[in-house]
Amino acid sequence: MMQMLDQVHRRKREGKDTIMFCAGQPTTGAPEAVINEAEIALRSSTLGYTEVVGDREFRERVADWHSATYGVETSADNVIVTTGSSGGFVAAFLATLDHGDYVAMSTPGYPAYRNILESLGAKILNLRCTAETRFQPTAQMLEELPHKPKAVIVTSPGNPTGTIIDPAELEKIAAWCDDNDAVLISDEDYHGMSFGRPLATAHQFSKNAIVVGTLSKYFSMTGWRVGWIIVPDELITPIENLQASLALCAPAIGQAAGRAAFTLEAAAELDEHVEAYREAREVFVEKLPEIGLGTFADPDGGLYLWVDVSEYTEDSEVWAQQLIEEAGVAVAPGVDFDPELGHKWIRLSLCASKEDTLEGVRRIGEFLKK
Ligand SMILES: Cc1ncc(COP(=O)(O)O)c(C=O)c1O
Repeated sequence: MMQMLDQVHRRKREGKDTIMFCAGQPTTGAPEAVINEAEIALRSSTLGYTEVVGDREFRERVADWHSATYGVETSADNVIVTTGSSGGFVAAFLATLDHGDYVAMSTPGYPAYRNILESLGAKILNLRCTAETRFQPTAQMLEELPHKPKAVIVTSPGNPTGTIIDPAELEKIAAWCDDNDAVLISDEDYHGMSFGRPLATAHQFSKNAIVVGTLSKYFSMTGWRVGWIIVPDELITPIENLQASLALCAPAIGQAAGRAAFTLEAAAELDEHVEAYREAREVFVEKLPEIGLGTFADPDGGLYLWVDVSEYTEDSEVWAQQLIEEAGVAVAPGVDFDPELGHKWIRLSLCASKEDTLEGVRRIGEFLKK
């Protein structure tokens, strides 16, 4: 996917018109309220290291937002600020897993979990997710695993599928993890981005879960590199110690300015972005079947649409390469997200404007006719 992004940048430098459906990030900037706070912070603060676990005020904002959004009790003490949620995953994996432990995760799924875990010596248990369960895992799948996992990762809304796990199923998974001494790691990075379905936090069902969040997606602050993990009491000190060696702290400017991301003013702006993603989804859902791409995971939220291209290719990497060269449309080939079946799938992003989305689908249609 990153190779595809490099090509997009190169084509843009060469003046070649390209529609970008491959991005894994909002194309919008930070909310105005955040930019104002950043300006103030640049002038009034030394922006040195924050506390290892994060700026106290920022942690309080995250805790208040989490409590208010889901009706749970969240203490700032349990919030650890990390360099994007990516930094949170590394810390959480190091704190909870040993070399050789099994970790269950959905396939298709976000590739970085697998890449980090394999490099740490963990063993992956793939939960094959299909349209049958709306591309989300179930407690039954955990029950049927050949080995007991030490951790289970759930991502809702999903990447690459955009589907949201049913709260009742998340509750069953949380109970299964508690009964089987497995750590539930709930990636809630795309929370705030639902087109209608309810989004539950794992903390509604178990306080033992590790909840992961970020300013990168709904809050539209990808490059600011601020995320967080909300961890059970017994993990606060181990993760603080790890964080002291891994990162010292998350970026100070992102934390100082990021406090304003949780204001009503920012929410009004950010909710408009979600409306734009909803519009892009509607275009795709209506138009893709018309051009012969009728099999896809219909996203409930998030930023993506997962599309079956098996009628046209056995190798979506080659197909995506031809598509960008011949039609000027960049998509993410599926192999990153599903090593086994991803060569039959691509991921499209909901981040392009409505006009670009319409034009991009038209071009893919022309390409398929050829
Ligand atoms: C499901 C998921 N989790 C985590 C991340 C990491 O995001 P960040 O480190 O910017 O918070 C991403 C980024 O695309 C993602 O899609």
